Amino acid sequence: MQVVASIQYDRYRQIGVGQGMNSTVYIADDPQLGGMMAVKEIEKDRFGNDVAAYFAEAKAMFRSSHPNIVEIRYACQTASEICLAMPYYEKGSLADRIKVRPLQLSEVMRVAQGVLTGLARIHAAGFVHLDVKPANILFSDTEVPMVADFGQARVILPTGLVKVSDVDCWMIPPETIGSATGSVMSDVYQAGLLLYSALNGDDFCKARRPAKTDVRDRISKGKYPDRKQFLPHVPRRLRTILRKALEVLPIHRYQSATEMADALSRVQLELDWRMEPLPGGGRRWTSSRPGCADLVVEQVANGSGFDVCTYTEKQGEPRRSKDKKSNWRSGLSDRDALAHLKTVFEGLLA
Ligand SMILES: Nc1ncnc2c1ncn2[C@@H]1O[C@H](COP(=O)(O)OP(=O)(O)O)[C@@H](O)[C@H]1O
Ligand SMILES: [Mg+2]
Repeated sequence: MQVVASIQYDRYRQIGVGQGMNSTVYIADDPQLGGMMAVKEIEKDRFGNDVAAYFAEAKAMFRSSHPNIVEIRYACQTASEICLAMPYYEKGSLADRIKVRPLQLSEVMRVAQGVLTGLARIHAAGFVHLDVKPANILFSDTEVPMVADFGQARVILPTGLVKVSDVDCWMIPPETIGSATGSVMSDVYQAGLLLYSALNGDDFCKARRPAKTDVRDRISKGKYPDRKQFLPHVPRRLRTILRKALEVLPIHRYQSATEMADALSRVQLELDWRMEPLPGGGRRWTSSRPGCADLVVEQVANGSGFDVCTYTEKQGEPRRSKDKKSNWRSGLSDRDALAHLKTVFEGLLA
């Protein structure tokens, strides 16, 4: 016996503005359950006549239920919209965080494990996500990273492939250009790209983007993203892992999210660098060391270029010395400063 019931919620305010392209998301009050939630509303017009597709996103989310996947509470429809009800994750998305600064290295490792575990679950449930990007990673109240937005998720066919359409141009996996087919390795590629953005931050990545008209060509040639350019503190082993995830040919990548997670779990971070932007395009890196003074590396704007130096700082009191050991340089261009800093960071590990 079919039961048609009614459900009500009161929109409170819109969230995620500028981060989603296919929907409108609201914080809403749910009078049935008596609390706040988030509701994603998708216009039915987007599906054309494909009524069967209305709840595909909800189904993929529900089938993929896992601590690293955004929870779906229920799905329903109005005359014009499909509505997906989720808990409201007030800590926001990874995109919000990397707008401010890159993630600290240990944070990147933690986010990577969460995202890759979530992806492994999605793949085991029979889907490829195809929209793995910072705006689609949310954080729970306890800081657990969770994969959101199954709007692009596709069912894996018996061939192991999925049909791909409408991927955000910066995120297009190279193999889908021309063939319009992807696989779990497309998610591995996007996870690599996501970690590349998390390690380098928005400013660094956006400044190195090609024109939109060139992006597909650059992606298929393996020139975007530029695998040679990383912020100077990013350890060599991490660069190697990301390059493998970002290989143009899927066969050269990690063959599963779990394989990539496993490679990352073996990286030992000797110094846990955290970078923050300084005025005028400068940067400051800090690494806290248990029982020792903090290590600080600075690239400071000084009118004609950048000064670079390293020093130690104990309880907010810096100890600066401009001798050779402190790696002090003056009047460098941004490019030269970054090149010099790469050797500085490597030297600090020695
Ligand atoms: N449950 C939620 N809690 C908090 N913010 C959310 C939630 N769901 C979505 N958002 C925010 O809304 C944005 C758009 O949602 P998303 O599901 O990615 O839709 P779209 O398919 O339009 O990209 C996300 O990037 C995020 O910032
Ligand atoms: Mg989204």
